[in-house]
Amino acid sequence: MIPFSKPYHIRKEISYIKAALKSRKISGNGYYSKKCHAYLEKETNCKKALLTQSCTAALEMAAILADIQPGDEVIMPSFTFVSTANAFVLRGAVPVFVDIRPDTLNIDETKIERAITKKTRAIVPVHYAGVACEMDAIMAIGKKYNLFVIEDAAQCVGAYYRDKPLGAIADFGCFSFHETKNITSGEGGALLINNEKFIERAEIIWEKGTDRARFFRGEIDKYTWVDIGSSYLPSEITAAFLLAQLEKSRNINEKRLKLWNYYYENLIDYERRGYFNLPVLLKDCRHNAHIFYIVLKEPAKSLELMNFFKKNGVSAHSHYMPLHLSKAGQKYGKVNDKLSITEDIYERIVRLPLYASMTKSESKKVLSLLRNFYIKD
Ligand SMILES: Cc1ncc(COP(=O)(O)O)c(C=O)c1O
Repeated sequence: MIPFSKPYHIRKEISYIKAALKSRKISGNGYYSKKCHAYLEKETNCKKALLTQSCTAALEMAAILADIQPGDEVIMPSFTFVSTANAFVLRGAVPVFVDIRPDTLNIDETKIERAITKKTRAIVPVHYAGVACEMDAIMAIGKKYNLFVIEDAAQCVGAYYRDKPLGAIADFGCFSFHETKNITSGEGGALLINNEKFIERAEIIWEKGTDRARFFRGEIDKYTWVDIGSSYLPSEITAAFLLAQLEKSRNINEKRLKLWNYYYENLIDYERRGYFNLPVLLKDCRHNAHIFYIVLKEPAKSLELMNFFKKNGVSAHSHYMPLHLSKAGQKYGKVNDKLSITEDIYERIVRLPLYASMTKSESKKVLSLLRNFYIKD
């Protein structure tokens, strides 16, 4: 069976974990966490990076830092993972869903302004598949209406909007290191803080609402409860694993990009012949080959195609069920406009297997099955 995704392993994860165990400091914010923070700060140019247990946790921290209150509205796409919305719903806010663009499948920046009301507090662009949203336009809207902009950059390590690393453009950016992501620690994430004034409070929220980070730096004699917060920091075991991955992140992304390009070059003719559409990237933006998807012409065919793949030993998947169509989305969210692109795309998208250790013969098999599926027609 060709799996849909497979975490890439570098042998160094084990030696770093052994070293962490030997040091006997295995709770959070130790040597390996600090190394990961420094790596992310250098690579993205953000003001401060903090490892978290997940991207979900990073989004929750961002919602607290943006001081989201009950009744506030937060604009986001509906074509996203539940955590994008949940982080704000947990603070009592209402997610307001805006349609996506038919090309990049990212939030349609031209439809954001009409969703803004007196209650709007933040915009959450999600860079789907590691492909950038139109950030200049989104940041300009944020500035015009004095709104926080929080990037859900779960899929984006190593991807750019023009010359800017994704996650380090808006007030806050949230990465995921879940096992399905290009760079992984099993579960894991990071909050990128791009405005210095939020760093101190972020460290407090991260450390259960205490000023323990200041205590560990020797700035105060004892630490106490000073704010709301939770246990958002991962252990040194997770950080040690992650550091080995981060150090090889360019290499991992390169391998993925080669496979992504191989798929693209071999499928472009199918697009020209009208069988399905291929991913569209924003001009001058570097993506990280997180996902290779095709958008079929007819929704009915996508299930048929996935079953055909399965029958022949290949795992291919659709993607997000739009949040506004889900039970919780209807209870907690709001739609102020038609979401026709979202509703149309989600039934037609099929993601092909892609992982850094994928062999040429595996990708060839995927392509030849796709060919057989269409030619049989
Ligand atoms: C867009 C998006 N946001 C957030 C998340 C949540 O990431 P995590 O599993 O690290 O909490 C995901 C997970 O796939 C995602 O795709």
